[in-house]
Amino acid sequence: MTIVETISQAKLAFRRQFGLEPAYGAAAPGRVNLIGGHVDYHNGLVLPLAINRYSIVLGARTNTRQGRFYSTHCNELIEVDLVNPIPAESPTWANYVSGVVAGLLHRGLELPGFDAVLHSEVPVGGGLSSSAALEVSVATFLESISDTKLDKVDKARLCQQAENEFVGVPCGIMDQFASVFGEKDRLIKLDCRSQEVDLIAWPGDKVSVLIVDSNSPHQLVDGAYAERKKQSSEALRKLGFDCYRDLTLDILIENRDCLNSVEYLRARHVVTEIARANSCVHAIQVGDWESAGRLLAESHESLRDDYEVSCLQLDQLVEISRDIGIEGGVYGARMTGGGFGGCVILLVRAEQAQPVSEMILARYLSRSGIQASAFVTVPSRGAFAFTPQEYLP
Ligand code: GLA
Repeated sequence: MTIVETISQAKLAFRRQFGLEPAYGAAAPGRVNLIGGHVDYHNGLVLPLAINRYSIVLGARTNTRQGRFYSTHCNELIEVDLVNPIPAESPTWANYVSGVVAGLLHRGLELPGFDAVLHSEVPVGGGLSSSAALEVSVATFLESISDTKLDKVDKARLCQQAENEFVGVPCGIMDQFASVFGEKDRLIKLDCRSQEVDLIAWPGDKVSVLIVDSNSPHQLVDGAYAERKKQSSEALRKLGFDCYRDLTLDILIENRDCLNSVEYLRARHVVTEIARANSCVHAIQVGDWESAGRLLAESHESLRDDYEVSCLQLDQLVEISRDIGIEGGVYGARMTGGGFGGCVILLVRAEQAQPVSEMILARYLSRSGIQASAFVTVPSRGAFAFTPQEYLP
């Protein structure tokens, strides 16, 4: 599905729901992270790209003081308080929206009344940041309808805060940054300590990013994500450091006795993963795909064994990819996103992407009994506002 088709579907839904034409539009992509798993909330280095799957918001001003959103995914209409929004028990998706509204009001924005439709092509629960895409698309839509422009870093932080405070997921800043800063044919090197973004050229003619969804959905709200964050933060505190960027593997090993075994493993993952992300950036810049692929494989092992955020299905997909190997066109694979289900990401030789994808789906089906889905993605444009009339029909 192209973005134009997604926008057309959203337009149809808007007309059906509200009986008029939308006047404002915004799009924000999901993301996939190449390397740097579970280090964004520890001031680490991450390497995501915005994917060509978008969350779309279309809307029109009304003469009311109400802000209404209709979700095509949930087939549900909600009204958001435009004066003092607070988190609600249900529906949970409303909290992503009201969290963003709260952030904008907090920055002094005055929002007019509106009716809007939310329509997303980012798979929910697949580890591709459907949440960040939703938040950033809503923020971009509200910027547009209130004729304001937020600073990009501030917009990403506002959306992260919505997720932290209204949804209750203590996520880092990677997903929202990727959705805001994404660019066509560029990877996003994000230094989560300085919050600086460097765009890295992506040679899509040589290598493809293949995403395979295990079709075992994840759920970050259930506490395991927060628990990992707590354990690794506690390890850092016990070692007497404020920031993981200042901790080396040597210091960690020397001071192993200060930590319990779980804390040691969690800290080892964070320290080594930041180093791997650094090396991977270098490997990509010099076109050393074998090294980049090996780093992905090591990242997966660390997430599986030290951070314990993988699951049987993700491990199976990574094993199948490893068995296909470089001869078959696979440089490397790892789980991506929060984990416990969701997707794996593979670096594959561009001309072999299609056969690799078919082979993985077939072998995974016979091993797990689950029909996975796969698609090749390209680094895509980050959030943008548009005029719906420019898109036909
Ligand atoms: C989720 C979070 C991100 C990040 C990843 C793991 O996607 O939203 O902030 O922590 O997990 O890398």
